[in-house]
Amino acid sequence: MIYQVYPRSFADGNGDGTGDIAGIRSRLNHLSALGVDAIWYSPWYPSPMADAGYDVADYRDIDPVFGTLAEAEALIAEAHALGIRTIVDVVPNHCSDVHPWFQAALAGGPDAPERELFWFREGRGPDGDLPPTEWVSSFGGRTWTRTTNPDGTPGDWYLHLFAPQQPDFNWDHPRVRAEFEDILRFWLDRGVDGIRIDSAAMLAKDPTLPEATPDGPNPFVDVDAVHEIYRSWRRIADSYPGERALIGEVWLPDHERFANYLRPDELHAAFNFDFLGCAWEPAELRACVDATLAAHAPVSAPATWVLSNHDVTRHVTRYGRTDTTFSFAAKREGVPTDLELGTRRARAAALLSLSLPGAAYVYQGEELGLWEVEDIPYELRQDPMWERSGRVDPGRDGCRVPLPWTGDTPPFGFSPDGSAGPWLPQPADWKDRTVRAQTGDPHSMLELYRAAIAIRRADPALGDGELIWLPAPAGVLAYRRGDGFRCLVNLSDVAVPLPPHERLLLASGPLDDDLVPPDTAVWLRTTEEPGGPAAPA
Ligand code: GLC
Repeated sequence: MIYQVYPRSFADGNGDGTGDIAGIRSRLNHLSALGVDAIWYSPWYPSPMADAGYDVADYRDIDPVFGTLAEAEALIAEAHALGIRTIVDVVPNHCSDVHPWFQAALAGGPDAPERELFWFREGRGPDGDLPPTEWVSSFGGRTWTRTTNPDGTPGDWYLHLFAPQQPDFNWDHPRVRAEFEDILRFWLDRGVDGIRIDSAAMLAKDPTLPEATPDGPNPFVDVDAVHEIYRSWRRIADSYPGERALIGEVWLPDHERFANYLRPDELHAAFNFDFLGCAWEPAELRACVDATLAAHAPVSAPATWVLSNHDVTRHVTRYGRTDTTFSFAAKREGVPTDLELGTRRARAAALLSLSLPGAAYVYQGEELGLWEVEDIPYELRQDPMWERSGRVDPGRDGCRVPLPWTGDTPPFGFSPDGSAGPWLPQPADWKDRTVRAQTGDPHSMLELYRAAIAIRRADPALGDGELIWLPAPAGVLAYRRGDGFRCLVNLSDVAVPLPPHERLLLASGPLDDDLVPPDTAVWLRTTEEPGGPAAPA
């Protein structure tokens, strides 16, 4: 199981209200007790934080708000000593506008050689005051910003698929390639076991910069030239001792195009956004699992199972709504939400995702059952999606609220007592969601995760190998894994009988005698022979 730490919201060691490496080091015991195999850290590099650190000014250092490079090295070593591996987040599509290359490109005027490292173009129209294309940014608005020449006259435009503070690199330039190969080595030399690749499908652009049309190929997403980049990265990862993994953030609806990134000489894994966006509906979930496994089989790559991350609505909230899917386009604020229902489903979903073949990812706070915080005062919201969408999109701050650890009142042990308040306010109701409050409570989300992960770790066949669907009543997903392990998830609205079993390993909620209530999952051990035929459910 891979656990995602969002450093500014995990734990604050120095009391400035923002999480940091000192805080992470002081709380590593939580992750060890949870049973995590690896930690993925969202960016911790020097950054003006225009996009919470996904705007990187220096890829080879740590932002002072998080600590120092020496502390990061100590953290990597301490985690290794606990048997926990480290995955760092590399952001290769774009950097920060204060990155020295971009600053040199601006300062040097239209002829600066550094402009070749980015996408600088003349504007259209008689005065060049129209952007080179009408591409729309993932953050809303234009993907181009006009520069001002050193002499004060209006200049060329530069491309940014995200915020204007995030200029896109030109990956056709050999210096960009060489630079990132060196950055990979920098972190691999420091003992990191994996690299999470931000916006991995966006690096290559169609150099003719055509307009994006609904029917034509997208000129900046999944352009074929991107694959050569990952082949060279794979050669670097493979040149290191031990297993070093490359994990891509690849949002693509087409399963075949997605699997191209996982060919044996490219990435090791990519996030499964279909699963993350899938409705709490039996047929859709089953189809998603089948499609995922079918897409991964030909390339022999492990599937990944993700329910939440730092960009999306926490699934306790999502599952408590009428529309249980996630998409950026959907209305995500002011939607009626039943948190009790969402929590029940999130518990069942944990048992589902932790028993599917492949790697499971857990975003910090999922194990505490945290919900999306939807009432963050406007003036405290920091995500650029909020302002750039004209305050239509609530942004992603609601899933980034600092974790509650101990105590009855904010900051709930996130920061040392008596220090600055957390960078985003925590709901007072999180007093029941702290690690301390949940520890030892057999009904808590935390103890459910601990128990499930312990079972998963003890049975390697759970993370790997085949999944065999079993006959089950309408609205129920039942499958067999490994030798005699079964999972049953009741997504119907009636209780269903517990199938024959030798031992009930775990249930996501109370059972009603021998009935599994709606929105509840169970893990069972049966007596069937290894590899033997499955008994009907
Ligand atoms: C990825 C990150 C997201 C960031 C974006 C731009 O999608 O997960 O947080 O805003 O890339 O770097």
